[in-house]
Amino acid sequence: MPAIDPTSGTSALAQPAAPLSSTNTSPAFDREKVTILFVLGGPGSGKGTQCANLVRDYGFIHLSAGDLLREEQNNKESKYGQLIADYIKDGKIVPMEITVKLLEGAIRSKLNSDGTGKFLVDGFPRKMDQAIFFEETVCPSKSTIFLQCSEEVMRERLLNRGKTSGRSDDNEESIVKRFQTFVNTSMPVVDHFEEEGRVIKVSAEDSVNEVYENLAKALAEKGISPSK
Ligand code: ADP
Ligand code: C5P
Ligand code: MG
Repeated sequence: MPAIDPTSGTSALAQPAAPLSSTNTSPAFDREKVTILFVLGGPGSGKGTQCANLVRDYGFIHLSAGDLLREEQNNKESKYGQLIADYIKDGKIVPMEITVKLLEGAIRSKLNSDGTGKFLVDGFPRKMDQAIFFEETVCPSKSTIFLQCSEEVMRERLLNRGKTSGRSDDNEESIVKRFQTFVNTSMPVVDHFEEEGRVIKVSAEDSVNEVYENLAKALAEKGISPSK
């Protein structure tokens, strides 16, 4: 793997940002002004789908780590395009500096003029190092929504999505690898947040509307209500 220097080059990753070292840094954004909800769940659990509902009703801004990585992958000026493409096809977690810098830049560009903002950070953090680095250098999260779904249901949804998504990883071979990464690398993050009492867990097996109803109830219990 090449050395990562997300502050060089001409891509979106070249935006000025906080130092990369996680020592002696304070988060770039104030948690009193910036609300971050992480949204986790296996591939195909419905994160993007439910985020769209939350954007509509709660006034959140949706940032998908996967979408930002795919955008960077397609940016001809980025020197990480091929690296990102390889990691995504293999269902592996892209080196965290890249993803965290993309998220930080996206948050910065979407803040209100008074520095406030409410963000759903979808598909992130997928690995413990991402979680720690983001909370130390960007902003501590308020909670993590976790969509719980069986592999059987997720596989069916992903294969179905693959008929039209054009994604390099919505195929049998990549799906198997993505499930392995989810179990081995991403679930420990959910378990860690759960030990801290910071997880809002919702079953994601039922219809989109039923899942959303349960999600809305679970959010209400944490004092998070629709904005209109
Ligand atoms: P993720 O972002 O977690 O990978 P998506 O939101 O993209 O998942 O959903 C994966 C696929 O499953 C999409 O084609 C979506 O339309 C479909 N889908 C999402 N939620 C449900 C649900 N509750 N029931 C049936 N299909 C769903
Ligand atoms: O969330 P999504 O399914 O769109 O993610 C697609 C891929 O992007 C993941 O399988 C992984 O390769 C990469 N990714 C990552 N780190 C994240 C989110 C996504 O490496 N936090
Ligand atoms: Mg998604």
